Amino acid sequence: MPEQRSVRVAADDIVVVGTGMAGLITALSLAPRPVTLITKTSTLESGSSLWAKGGIAAAVGPGDSPEAHAEDTLTAGAGLSDRRRALALTREGADSLRLLVQEGVPFDRALDGTLELAREAAHGRPRIVHAGGDATGRVIMSALIERARRTPSIKILRSAFAHELVVQDGAVRGLLVFEHGKGWSQRHASHVVLATGGIGMAWWHTTNPAESTGDGLAIAARAGAQLTDLEFMQFHPTALAVNTEAGNANLPLLTEALRGAGALLVDQAGKRFMSAVHPAAELAPRDVVARAIEQKITAGGSVYLDMRPVIANGLAGEFPEAVHACRDAGLDPATDLLPIVPAAHYHMGGIHVDDDGHTSLDGLWACGEVANTGVHGANRLASNSLLEAVVYARRVAAGIQRAPALRDEQPLPIQEAPEVPVPGTEKRLDLIIAATRSAVSRHVGIVRSGVGLQRALQQFRVLDAQLGKIAMCQVQDA
Ligand code: SIN
Repeated sequence: MPEQRSVRVAADDIVVVGTGMAGLITALSLAPRPVTLITKTSTLESGSSLWAKGGIAAAVGPGDSPEAHAEDTLTAGAGLSDRRRALALTREGADSLRLLVQEGVPFDRALDGTLELAREAAHGRPRIVHAGGDATGRVIMSALIERARRTPSIKILRSAFAHELVVQDGAVRGLLVFEHGKGWSQRHASHVVLATGGIGMAWWHTTNPAESTGDGLAIAARAGAQLTDLEFMQFHPTALAVNTEAGNANLPLLTEALRGAGALLVDQAGKRFMSAVHPAAELAPRDVVARAIEQKITAGGSVYLDMRPVIANGLAGEFPEAVHACRDAGLDPATDLLPIVPAAHYHMGGIHVDDDGHTSLDGLWACGEVANTGVHGANRLASNSLLEAVVYARRVAAGIQRAPALRDEQPLPIQEAPEVPVPGTEKRLDLIIAATRSAVSRHVGIVRSGVGLQRALQQFRVLDAQLGKIAMCQVQDA
């Protein structure tokens, strides 16, 4: 990283941070209005949308309704979802699918051309739409990335880290960005949209990619935006435990749909155990399954997913990503039991937004996993996140279009660029990050206690003091 701390000034109309599904759809929906899209990675083929193995939930099947979909959403949310917003979300299911089809997404269809609808745990009906089976995230993202690349109003900054929001009189007016190879710039903008994804990297095991480090949440918090429901983190029960002893954090997800297709959970003796825990056994709600597996592992046991029934049922073709992940790990799902651990999966809490995706700070918007829309409550219903990303990205774009133009702007003071790690301090940063993840994994995991949370807080205070004022700009080399 260059040591120079001078700050260039750039002017943008709208800056969108994050190039997952929410960020790309916001930018595409604003076209032809100019948008600068910022990603800290060196490629658009990154972020957790790409890793989505579930599909998009939409009440479009015979006998289904947005009301029924909303009821399932509320039940999964443990009574803590916003009912009005959940219903508004599910009512936009069909429209969201239409938009994605227009953007070129080839959803999986039956021979007669109708959408294939799958069922997932806690959904009362088949209403999950996939594209390429469990490769849905990859297929949707490849269509959206292609569209974004061909949209002249979208300018893309790669290897660029959004470090701080520029706030004036309580309103966000831009952001301070560190670009690999170019250094610092203060980008003035009328609107900043945070679509930076989740926080899975705060735990030792996550189904998220390495990029999910909570940067958007952090800069919003430092700017004084309201954050809500931060304690609501969803753990997925079945991440493939590959190279965990070597410190591998980003574990391949073995989709819940595998259990819907007959896969079983067994212990080290090869015995099923979920029937004793919940009447729905392997198809019990995600939090119940994750807790049962965690208990077994904490007691010194191991847990495996047995995918052989799926293969015997001739359904392996629907799970190309799962089969690929197993083979990559040297496992044959036709013969081997697959070792699994629960892993940090999806953050329900986040930057508090209104119906339009606007935050508590003027000029700042948020959508996708970083936002807390209130629809998921304490536990997100499977496959509702991609739907929420589409719906709120479009609302953010519509809200920005309706917003009055800024008048009589005061000149913005140029922020001082922070110190970036100089050779020798990176190791110290790595140790601080590792200690933070240890404290989070030990005390802020699936099962928590007041004492454990207090311990975590004490450790965070010590680590924060050690960190001092060094900027953590985790940009990928261009
Ligand atoms: C899965 O396919 O198991 C995950 C889907 C989701 O989290 O929505």
